Amino acid sequence: MRMYDLIMKKRNGGNLSQEEIEYMIAEYTAGRIPDYQMSAMMMAIYFQGMSAQETTALTMAMAHSGDMMDLSDIEGVKVDKHSTGGVGDKTSIALTPMVAACGVKIAKMSGRGLGHTGGTIDKLESFEGFTTGITAGHFVRQVNEIGVSIMGQTADIAPADKKLYALRDVTATVDNMSLIASSIMSKKLASGADAIVLDVKTGSGAFMKSEKDSFALAKEMVTLGNMAGRKTIAVVSDMDQPLGRAVGNALEVEEAIATLRGEGPEDFTKLCMTLGTYMLIAGGVSSDEKDAEKRLQRVIEDGSALKKLAEFVQAQGGDAKAVYDTTLLPKASVIEEIVSVQSGYIEKIDCDEIGICSLILGGGRETKESEIDLSVGLILNKKVGDHVASGEPLAVIYANDRAKLTAAKERFLKAYHFADKPVQRAQLIKGIVRE
Ligand code: URA
Repeated sequence: MRMYDLIMKKRNGGNLSQEEIEYMIAEYTAGRIPDYQMSAMMMAIYFQGMSAQETTALTMAMAHSGDMMDLSDIEGVKVDKHSTGGVGDKTSIALTPMVAACGVKIAKMSGRGLGHTGGTIDKLESFEGFTTGITAGHFVRQVNEIGVSIMGQTADIAPADKKLYALRDVTATVDNMSLIASSIMSKKLASGADAIVLDVKTGSGAFMKSEKDSFALAKEMVTLGNMAGRKTIAVVSDMDQPLGRAVGNALEVEEAIATLRGEGPEDFTKLCMTLGTYMLIAGGVSSDEKDAEKRLQRVIEDGSALKKLAEFVQAQGGDAKAVYDTTLLPKASVIEEIVSVQSGYIEKIDCDEIGICSLILGGGRETKESEIDLSVGLILNKKVGDHVASGEPLAVIYANDRAKLTAAKERFLKAYHFADKPVQRAQLIKGIVRE
């Protein structure tokens, strides 16, 4: 078999066989296919697309390109959760202890990733001493003992995807449905959970800008998961504006903690309740939505979800006191209001732009080597549909550097768009995709 022939076949609109895809992934992982040939293949796939059979073969080949985690030493159904990502998405920090407090085992692997704010791992490092660099043995033991653990993704999980994703990132081939679905699902399948709940974002701050594409991506991933024998459900949710009010690592942790006390923003709380509901059903704890909601409500009201977060933080070396005293989280030195220069109803917020403000402040990573400032970010006072008067604060900005604060503030003001008449608020949950 020759890579040249496979590129030509795909370029001309043909379908690659399972054998051809397995060859291509194995040889690329081993370094025997050069990046320039794989780049050409990615671009051919980008334009020609992949059939369902090709996408399945690619997912399975990438999943099996490294270790397949064996979680059989954990008793019960292990549930994983994955979000396609967005601005202010701190869901895992609140959701995993909520669900674990209801008795579902959460064995989750997370990555850091490049982005506007850090990934889940970065956010959790706002707890001094917290680490996701734990051994597989520690991970399994912790899930058996307290019901939840989040481990940093090791280099041995889907190494083909790691290499390929880095290549796609620099060759403008990320935003292809089959490539995104196979990339995400290969890692999820290799991570070993029995059931997977996906949060597929849609809107200006998401990979998929249209609802139609987001539902198609959700369907593709649900099919891949179920075909591989993992119970998979997807929730399609809004990312046309930041989720909740906090954007920035420690600020998002603080908001997640408030949510576990029952004092979180309405949209964020609703998303956690919805994803949690399907995690409880997938984990076999609840048979229907109503029962799941009741259980989730109860663990917030009786404080057991918050206690579970403290246990989880402590089990991974973090300072659990900060769960009950958030003044112990990293704090920025300059805190200022961003005041609106006009009156009206908020019609639209350029979601990605708010993320870039956080990045400018130092809250995200521009390159893999960048150090993140965990304390900086923004708290939004106004979201789509809200009325604002000129001179009223739109947000509060947290910074450690005056020049960065000024640059972020300027950009922030341009991200808000106003209307004279009341504006309809977007629906947060767009739909559920099951098998
Ligand atoms: N996240 C991934 O892990 N892979 C993609 O291709 C896109 C988002």
